Amino acid sequence: MLNIALPKGRLGRIVYKQFEQAGFPCPGILEDNRTLVFEYPPAKVRYFWAKPSDVATYVSRGSADIGVAGKDILLEYEPAVYELLDLGIGACRMAVAAPTGFLDDGSRPLRVATKFANIAAGYYASRRRDIDIIRLNGSIEIAPLLGLSDVIVDIVETGKTLKENRLEVIDTLLPISARLIANQAAFQFKYLQIQKIVQQLSLQKKEEHL
Ligand code: PRP
Repeated sequence: MLNIALPKGRLGRIVYKQFEQAGFPCPGILEDNRTLVFEYPPAKVRYFWAKPSDVATYVSRGSADIGVAGKDILLEYEPAVYELLDLGIGACRMAVAAPTGFLDDGSRPLRVATKFANIAAGYYASRRRDIDIIRLNGSIEIAPLLGLSDVIVDIVETGKTLKENRLEVIDTLLPISARLIANQAAFQFKYLQIQKIVQQLSLQKKEEHL
């Protein structure tokens, strides 16, 4: 049985369709109910829906053999997993944003609100800028509006949330997309099944680009 952790939500449903086409179907999984674990013995698979930011934890600890996680989570938490493939979906970017017209005069540590404290710390360390990190769990965009922070480091997809909160991107750190990841031991023991998925998903990705 191959255990697969998928991120709950729209991205996870797209990914499941790709796995299904790759030869790992699981009837009933897309039905609208609250079940979180689905097994389909004929295809030797067990899927479960996890919170997107938790997928890498399930995979690194072996509860899942493979899973799909955002590059943002992999960079922030550096879980001990193998990154096998860039699926090219869920594309967005990690950026610094500030209220329109903001100028950093460098007179005091910059107050940075973020869910990605390690990524933000690394970015500002490379620029030798002192910062005061303010860790938040969501709705980061309101922090500058309420005077809690000077800037934010966050995911930007369409840019709509920034615009509606009168913020603008002042620097882009890196592009982000969904990655196929594997547990390190499972990658050895279930090598053939995992390689089959990698090959099929790579083929699907190529066909989409043709
Ligand atoms: C993410 C991110 C931004 C928003 C960006 O938030 O943290 O707030 O999406 O998307 P956009 O550029 O298309 O507007 P999410 O929806 O995950 O919720 P959160 O505020 O709880 O982090």
